[in-house]
Amino acid sequence: MNSKRKSIFVTQPSLAPLEEYTDLLEEVWKSGILTHNGPKVRKLEKDLENKLNIPNFTLVLNGTVALQMAIKALELKGDIITTPFTWVATISAIKWEGCSPVFCDIDPDTLNIDEEKIEGLITKDTVAIMPVHVFGTACNVEKIEKIAKKHNLKVIYDAAHAIGSSYKGNSLLQYGDISATSLHATKLYNTGEGGACITTSSSLRKKVERIRFFGHNEEKEVVEDGFNGKMTEIHAALGIANLKYFDDVLKDRKEKYLMYLDLLGKSEKLNFQKIKENETNYSYFPVIFSSEEELLKVEKALNKNEIFPRRYFYPSVNTYSKILNHQPTPISEDISKRIMCLPLFYNLTPLEIEYIAKIILEKLEH
Ligand SMILES: Cc1ncc(COP(=O)(O)O)c(C=O)c1O
Repeated sequence: MNSKRKSIFVTQPSLAPLEEYTDLLEEVWKSGILTHNGPKVRKLEKDLENKLNIPNFTLVLNGTVALQMAIKALELKGDIITTPFTWVATISAIKWEGCSPVFCDIDPDTLNIDEEKIEGLITKDTVAIMPVHVFGTACNVEKIEKIAKKHNLKVIYDAAHAIGSSYKGNSLLQYGDISATSLHATKLYNTGEGGACITTSSSLRKKVERIRFFGHNEEKEVVEDGFNGKMTEIHAALGIANLKYFDDVLKDRKEKYLMYLDLLGKSEKLNFQKIKENETNYSYFPVIFSSEEELLKVEKALNKNEIFPRRYFYPSVNTYSKILNHQPTPISEDISKRIMCLPLFYNLTPLEIEYIAKIILEKLEH
């Protein structure tokens, strides 16, 4: 490879052909409706419900707002047991809603919350469990539901990574009292910025819709503690255009994930998230190194070749000392120092994957 090769970043948005988006934008222009639960938002909600075979898909501004709306809709006040191996948004949503995060360490194999450790953290102040389906890989939803029922707790899944993931043949988004997903540009399926609340009941969905619209009911009375969580027609139009290519992107992600695994799985110096076929969407390719030094060595070699993986999730969010008091979670703190996501996106070529893997393997040998 020559030194003029283009930079490869950790991700690139999956986008429909521009003409298909501009056709939809023309319709938005003609309608004169830009927001307020317009026809494109309503259409995309229906299309996603049909595609994922789930009944209540409510589009909102972004994944962080979806988490906040979920907490609001369930009227939670108190401690929420969550994972430290996540993006800071999980925690900021909890804090913005006046609740407190309680960190439960993770399973070192799946990287999801260790459900065996949840019960030990439950106190009289606990109101909910908020696990994350890390990198789109399903948590043990059945065990978590059992614990929640036993202790009368709500479950909100931070399903930011999980669109397109399944569990026992169903969309993973249908688990929990509410699942909150992200449709951000970097996600497997995107609306630019965007998110959604997926609720189990239609009455809860109505409540989420009211919260999204300043707390108004249909008569325009303020009946909830709401805010402005609306998705625009411009974003929904992008979602409609991109949805046509969703299956294609999913298939491509899996092929590329498996290609990386085939190439890098040979190294005894690397570890990988334990995933189950059909319980993940293969949306990220995280690599776990034996030490932070090894990771930094490989990262430097990749950067030198204009390849920019991402240390994700790093650091473990329980260590954010400016916003939290430290609650130790040794497994998450250790793994977050040694994990890095490799470039994975639709336009990444097999040759580029081979090239990335070659650099990593060579560096690990020295
Ligand atoms: C685990 C997790 N939760 C929440 C979010 C927030 O989603 P958004 O960026 O759509 O607000 C992200 C974003 O990447 C995330 O990775």
